[in-house]
Amino acid sequence: MITEYQSLKSYNTFGVPAQARYFTTFSTAEELRDLLNHAIVKNNPRLILGGGSNMLFVRNFDGIVLKNELKGIEKVHEDEHHYYVKSAAGEIWHELVMHCIQNNYAGMENLALIPGCVGASPMQNIGAYGVEIKDIFHSLEAMHVHDGTVRTFSLEECNFGYRESIFKRAEKDNWVILSVTYRLNKRAVLHTSYGAIEEQLDKMHRDNITIKDVAQAVIAIRSSKLPDPKVTGNAGSFFKNPVVPIEVYKAIQTHHNNAPCFPIDETNVKVPAGWLIEQAGWKGKNLGNYGVHDKQALVLVNYGGATGEQIYALSTSIISDIKAKFGIELEREVNMIG
Ligand code: FAD
Ligand code: EPU
Repeated sequence: MITEYQSLKSYNTFGVPAQARYFTTFSTAEELRDLLNHAIVKNNPRLILGGGSNMLFVRNFDGIVLKNELKGIEKVHEDEHHYYVKSAAGEIWHELVMHCIQNNYAGMENLALIPGCVGASPMQNIGAYGVEIKDIFHSLEAMHVHDGTVRTFSLEECNFGYRESIFKRAEKDNWVILSVTYRLNKRAVLHTSYGAIEEQLDKMHRDNITIKDVAQAVIAIRSSKLPDPKVTGNAGSFFKNPVVPIEVYKAIQTHHNNAPCFPIDETNVKVPAGWLIEQAGWKGKNLGNYGVHDKQALVLVNYGGATGEQIYALSTSIISDIKAKFGIELEREVNMIG
């Protein structure tokens, strides 16, 4: 059933008001294929919606929202070293992570507590605490929005990069991701060197560290600095961490000798955008019903009642200020809609 003028407030974790001209859901691939043949879907802009945790509705969406409700998780194959787990795109990402941990399928534990659905995980190659989905990705199945054909994309074909994939570039808006198959390890290779994971594991007094311990450490760290969207509207990091030539970083160092950076290659480094935004004085900025999170400057927040336009305007002010102060142009990480 296609509804009209559907409120999207409860469908985006920023919790901003917006309306979809048309709205529908699908829970099987056949249902989706039928929808793609429908005149309303053919003749209007389409937006595939998962958990709405990486988008900002700047205004109403004058098209059709297709909310993905495909369900099912299955171990489809195993070999000497790996389990292959296929998940339908509408499964909740964190529930899939917990399912894998319970079954001792290793590799996803550092990605615990990332909001949203499985289908969006390859879109921006989600990442946290030293792991990205490209590290555990095997393949995905997607349906073409024009002719309903289903195609498999391999790891190489997805062109994953930092918060990037082919689905945000050359194949933008062409495919609905139906399922993703992950290749998980039988023998865990723990990644605990990133950020405060080791410190957190020490606090938890664990000796023989398991994938469950790593997930619990990540959950504790994330909960201490990222706002819970159920309480405070947000979409995680609003900007990407910029990659800049080393000279640009050195120029910053002349005034801030403790400026953090992470090496990328011989000529470039990644500078944490959260640090730049904090140094520029925006951290914890409260503009009434919206602002910049006080524990993580990379996260813009809706305290309740803000509009997408206001949050977008705040992001524009931050971009101009960082450009003026550091000569670095921040890029939005969240998808702007409308
Ligand atoms: P949506 O917001 O619904 O959609 C995102 C984009 O993907 C849209 O362009 C949409 O059209 C497209 N899309 C969604 N599903 C499909 C599909 N099936 N087929 C085709 N296109 C599709 N991200 C990280 O990478 N790392 C983090 O650590 C992280 N932490 C976060 C913390 C918080 C508190 C929040 C609120 C967000 C965080 N995010 C993080 C961002 C977000 O959780 C991820 O980007 C997540 O993958 C988005 O999933 P979603 O289902 O909500 O996608
Ligand atoms: N920092 C500050 N002040 C701040 C925030 C950060 O100075 O207010 C500096 C500190 O030097 C800190 C460094 O930034 O050491 C890194 O901070 P953090 O570990 O919190 O990570 P991040 O770079 O801000 C990235 C991802 C997150 C992901 C974390 C953990 C991006 C855009 N963001 O944030 O992803 O969870 O690393 O791996 O790459 C998301 O994409 O929505 C998201 C939350």
